Amino acid sequence: MTSPAQEIAAGYVTEGQAVQLGTVVVDGQVDTSAVIRLPMATLNRHGLIAGATGTGKTKTLQLIAEQCSAAGVPVLLADIKGDLSGLARAGESTEKVAARARDTGDDWQPAAFPVQSLSLGTGGPGVPVRATITSFGPILLSKVLGLNDTQESTLGLIFHWADSRGLALLDTKDLRAVIGHLTSEEGKADLKQLGGVSASTAGVILRSLSNLEAQGGDEFFGEPELAVADLLRTGQVSLLEVGELRNKPALFSTFLMWLLAELFQELPEAGDLDAPKLVFVLDEAHLLFSDASKAFLEQIEQTVKLIRSKGVGVFFCTQLPTDIPNAVLSQLGARIQHALRAFTPDDQKALTQTVKTYPTTEHYELDKALTSLGTGEAIVTVLSERGAPTPVAWTRLRAPRSLMGTIGVDAIREAANASDLHGKYAETIDRESAYEKLAAKMAPPSDAPAPPPQEPPHEKDEPGALEKVLSSAPVKSFLRSAASAIGREITRGLFGTAKRRR
Ligand SMILES: Nc1ncnc2c1ncn2[C@@H]1O[C@H](COP(=O)(O)OP(=O)(O)OP(=O)(O)O)[C@@H](O)[C@H]1O
Ligand SMILES: [Mg+2]
Repeated sequence: MTSPAQEIAAGYVTEGQAVQLGTVVVDGQVDTSAVIRLPMATLNRHGLIAGATGTGKTKTLQLIAEQCSAAGVPVLLADIKGDLSGLARAGESTEKVAARARDTGDDWQPAAFPVQSLSLGTGGPGVPVRATITSFGPILLSKVLGLNDTQESTLGLIFHWADSRGLALLDTKDLRAVIGHLTSEEGKADLKQLGGVSASTAGVILRSLSNLEAQGGDEFFGEPELAVADLLRTGQVSLLEVGELRNKPALFSTFLMWLLAELFQELPEAGDLDAPKLVFVLDEAHLLFSDASKAFLEQIEQTVKLIRSKGVGVFFCTQLPTDIPNAVLSQLGARIQHALRAFTPDDQKALTQTVKTYPTTEHYELDKALTSLGTGEAIVTVLSERGAPTPVAWTRLRAPRSLMGTIGVDAIREAANASDLHGKYAETIDRESAYEKLAAKMAPPSDAPAPPPQEPPHEKDEPGALEKVLSSAPVKSFLRSAASAIGREITRGLFGTAKRRR
């Protein structure tokens, strides 16, 4: 008769490549030959890694990242606490690691992995990562700015106006200039044309934009924008850290959604693959959903659904599974649930709900199991290569082969500065955009032909002065050529993120 552990493990046999997660525990006994695997072929069916603080979530991420990297699959990890930087350095063989290796049937060897450190904005030790306001789009930006639904749709109209005028919104000062224009005397007609935009709502948006700038948001928006191709190098582990923007968690999580939208736009349809093109880990996922607008939530749901066909697997990492809306949760194929606490009535509720999301099992009492898991153990179910849920497995997870913990900010900076992406992204570029163009409307740029001499200089308060400047032939032609150089047509995709037609 086969043992319960072997019976469970039989559901985890794979034909193709797989991440070796660990071995089965039943009645407190580990069976070192009952192996639990996460098939590479179903990584694009997404997953959840959850558990109370200190239960082993980050080490589980590390373990999955290592094996993906070794198999040539690129990984993007949000390194919120900086403790994943150890991936770049070989681990230390300690007594504990040796014991875990024995328990998990692991022929453990120390190993280091190719890490590319990235920092949000220019203030961190990694290679700076930026995105433009235009490509971020109104929905994501509203999340960052903490706008309500009305303000969000106003911002949408403002983007639309800027898009249609060929005014590129690259950095925060561009957006400030556009809103400034629309709420000024000269912009009155434009504002009216827009309809539905009240000057007071525009003022609220302007204020939250100033707050964002004061908190360092201005160093994130701009060019050169991160090209997703730089995340897709074979086996590369991209570690994204928040750095100075630690107090702007909303910016961090929305940036990750922007990246997903970019990936969706850039990658071709992939169909069923033996291994994903990228594994994308969203740490602190609760930040994404708290205070999210309806539009934002719908977009996440849709992005997660669609990105699968592009060969991207998304893993959400958070403390409680209930942090994630059901519409998203129900799409996650793999579940790696570390220990849950059951102190408060809320904890109890979350526990009961978590139990309900698992297939039935005769081997464990799940509510008890979920509260008695040891550190580095989890209740696991994944999708088999045939796409069916695997049996519920109390799993002792393997130890990472790289260093558990940080390598320190100096080592991160040194490696980032030596990487070839450094040259591409280190310096911020401030190209001509909405800010400069709106300023130029008031005073024609020096490199444009001067207005004909017969035009008298405009008095500042003379009515219609702006119209006269704008309708003067040289200025008109300047605006036209500038607009077509930027490319008037901007198509907006998922999340209203933009792709410029070049
Ligand atoms: N798979 C593992 N192998 C070996 N040790 C582990 C493993 N998982 C966890 N540990 C041990 O438990 C500690 C805590 O794990 P980890 O940092 O992954 O917790 P966490 O759930 O990410 O916590 P937090 O929510 O605070 O970030 C580790 O420092 C390590 O000593
Ligand atoms: Mg952690």
